[in-house]
Amino acid sequence: MSVSQERRTDFTAWCRDELFTPQIREATHLINRYCDLQLAAMYRDLDLAAMLREPKKAPDITAQLGFVDNASIALRDALRRMGERSGTVRVEGDPLEETFTHLKGPSDPTQELADVRGEVAALGPDFTAATDFLDFGRDSFVKSLKDDPDYMDKLLSGRMKDFAELWHRATNADPLQDLHGAMGARVLESMLDGGTVLEIGGGTGNGARHLFGSLEKHGNLGKVGKYIFTDISMRFVLASKHEFEKKYPSVDWGWKFFDLNKPFGPQKIEPESVDVIYAVNAAHVAKDIVGFLQGCREALRPGGHVVFAERIRMNQYEMAPREFTLNLSVYHRSAPQKADYRPMHCYLHPDNWRAVMDKAGFSTCDVLPDLDALKTEFPDQYAAVVVAQK
Ligand SMILES: C[S@@+](CC[C@H](N)C(=O)[O-])C[C@H]1O[C@@H](n2cnc3c(N)ncnc32)[C@H](O)[C@@H]1O
Repeated sequence: MSVSQERRTDFTAWCRDELFTPQIREATHLINRYCDLQLAAMYRDLDLAAMLREPKKAPDITAQLGFVDNASIALRDALRRMGERSGTVRVEGDPLEETFTHLKGPSDPTQELADVRGEVAALGPDFTAATDFLDFGRDSFVKSLKDDPDYMDKLLSGRMKDFAELWHRATNADPLQDLHGAMGARVLESMLDGGTVLEIGGGTGNGARHLFGSLEKHGNLGKVGKYIFTDISMRFVLASKHEFEKKYPSVDWGWKFFDLNKPFGPQKIEPESVDVIYAVNAAHVAKDIVGFLQGCREALRPGGHVVFAERIRMNQYEMAPREFTLNLSVYHRSAPQKADYRPMHCYLHPDNWRAVMDKAGFSTCDVLPDLDALKTEFPDQYAAVVVAQK
C-alpha cells in the first residue's frame, strides 16, 4: 500500500491548519535571518573579507585558517548561503566546487542579533532553544573546526553530560524541531496494526514521546505489539528506558544500542523481524544511505514500512539554519554520498529520498505533506515524513 490520496490530503490539511501555526511560520523565518546574522558575525570574526580579496575555494580557505580538512564543507555551505542570501560574496562555478570572492559588508550584526532574538523570545520561551543552539555554534566555531574536532560530536551523541540540556532543548523543546516528532507520530499511528516497531536514532525520545502520547490519548496503545528503541548513545537509550517504561508499563519494550552505519545482522536485528522502522531526524545520519536502506528492507517483514520524519532540503544545495552549528560536527558533515541522488551531506531533497528508496528496492515511496501545495503559504517549510514500503 502506498499512502492513499485521502491520507495525503488529510495530512497536508493538518499541517497547514494545525501544525504550521503562525508562530511556527514566523519563527522559521526569524531563525533563517538569525542564521544569516551569525554567518555575518563569523565572517567578520575570521576576517574572511581580507582573505577573499582574491577568489578562493573552500579547501584553500580551510587550509589558510588551519582548520581540519573536511571543515571545508562547513565553510563552503556557509559562504554559498551568504552569497545567495546576503550578497556578501560572489559565488562562481559548479555547486559544491564553488569559488568565493568578497563583494561587500557585512556590517556588525550585534544589534540585529539582539533584536531578532527578542522577536523569537516573544513567540514563546521554547523558541529561543533555536537561537541558543546557533549562539552555541558561533561560540564553538573555531574550537570545533580547528582545536577539538570531536567537540560537537560529543554534544550530539550525548557523550558530554554538561551539554545534555542544550541538546535536549535543541531537539525536543524547540517547537521547530518538536514538530518532526508530531508529524512522524501522526503518520505512524495511522499505519500501526499490532506489529513490531524498531525506532532508530531514538535519542532523547522526541519520536517515541509524540507517538505514545498520541496512542494513549486515542486509546491505541494496543496497536504496538513490541517497540524496540535504539540509539548509538547508551546514555540516551537508558534515559528513555527510565522515562517510557514508567509512563507506559503495558507496552512490550526493547532497548538496544544500534549503529545505523553498521550491518543489521551482527547487531541482532534479524531479517524479516520487524513491521515498521521508524526514525525522527536520524535516518539522514547514514553515511551510505542506500546500504542503510537495504539493511532496513531486509529487516522488514514483507509489506513492512519505513517511516522517517525528516528535515529536508527544499533546494538541493541549501544549508539549513541549524547547520550553522551541526556542520561543526564531523558525523553531520561527513555523511555525504557524493552521488547524483545525494549530492549533499546529511539531509536529502525529497527527490533524493525517492531515488534512494528506489535504489534500495522499496516498492513505493511517498513524501508527506504535499510540499508544493504548501509552498506559497509557507515558503520556508522544511519538514516532511518519508514513507516507503518493502
Ligand atoms: C537529531 S537526533 C534525533 C534524536 C531523536 N530521534 C529526536 O528527534 O529527539 C539524531 C540521533 O541520532 C543518533 N545517532 C547518531 N549517529 C548514529 C548512528 N550511527 N547510529 C544510530 N544513531 C545515531 C544520535 O545519538 C541522536 O540521538
